[in-house]
Amino acid sequence: MKKNILITGAGSGIGRDAAFALSERGHRVWATVQSQEQAQNLQKECVARDVKLDIFKLDITLESDRKQVLDLPIDVLINNAGVGESGSLAEVAMARVRRVFEVNLFATLELTQAVLHGMVWRERGTVLFVSSIAGRIPVPFLMPYSMSKFALSAAGAGLRAEMDRLDKNIHIALIEPGAVHTGFNQAMTDSKYTWMDANSYFWSLRERLKREEKRSFAFLEARDTRSVVAQMVKAAEARRPRLRYVAPRFQGWMVRLARMLGV
Ligand SMILES: NC(=O)c1ccc[n+]([C@@H]2O[C@H](COP(=O)([O-])OP(=O)(O)OC[C@H]3O[C@@H](n4cnc5c(N)ncnc54)[C@H](OP(=O)(O)O)[C@@H]3O)[C@@H](O)[C@H]2O)c1
Repeated sequence: MKKNILITGAGSGIGRDAAFALSERGHRVWATVQSQEQAQNLQKECVARDVKLDIFKLDITLESDRKQVLDLPIDVLINNAGVGESGSLAEVAMARVRRVFEVNLFATLELTQAVLHGMVWRERGTVLFVSSIAGRIPVPFLMPYSMSKFALSAAGAGLRAEMDRLDKNIHIALIEPGAVHTGFNQAMTDSKYTWMDANSYFWSLRERLKREEKRSFAFLEARDTRSVVAQMVKAAEARRPRLRYVAPRFQGWMVRLARMLGV
């Protein structure tokens, strides 16, 4: 069955690739992006690839932008937009932590509430939250981001139970990608070096940290978004999506192993 799907943060990375994949499968896709510039670039890519997307600017932190979704008959909302932030919890400025939570949790929930309004009335719908494996296992020096994804995963699981109680055919699921090479992880790990200075507790460790980060992402990151997009498509098309969709698979196994070991 063809669906009306709205995805956020579709100007780049996983969101852009998922928007194209869903449209190519025959769904109507509202591919929403953070800026007008991204909208123009995505439009050009649609022409080049001969794929149809309905593109508009939706900065999820702006109420005026969120209002645009109220009248759309959305069957599936994919909350993909997200930001990263790194640094030790011992010293990172709380304003930075708040900003991550503002986008990854609060604005995501505000958009979800706006879309749920129509879904409850129509008595059908699916909401996907793009969380992260970093929302299952705490990642040192990525905690501002990791905590926001823990909170998002908890929100998704709780909302799922609430919607089950409502019994209006509304399904909630979590997409939990492992590390994927989109540039997101590099920008996130680098963010702390813009403010760490000689006063930082970790100043003398910074070159070692940089080497370790580079090495672990070179080892862990999937080269492309295909496995994650495949799970998103599966969840978006499922009649009764399960709670969690993890990809790439080997990173999912690593999470299970880590949790068995009590991490
Ligand atoms: N890549 C990974 O390894 C990985 C792993 C686990 C989970 N994830 C999650 O997957 C999602 C997509 O990440 P990605 O790797 O594809 O990185 P990405 O290319 O940076 O995608 C994130 C998108 O969200 C947009 N965005 C940020 N703030 C927004 C806002 N206020 N309103 C609307 N859009 C906003 C970004 O726009 P700008 O470019 O303008 O900031 C960007 O287009 C994120 O939620 C991320 O946390 C990624």
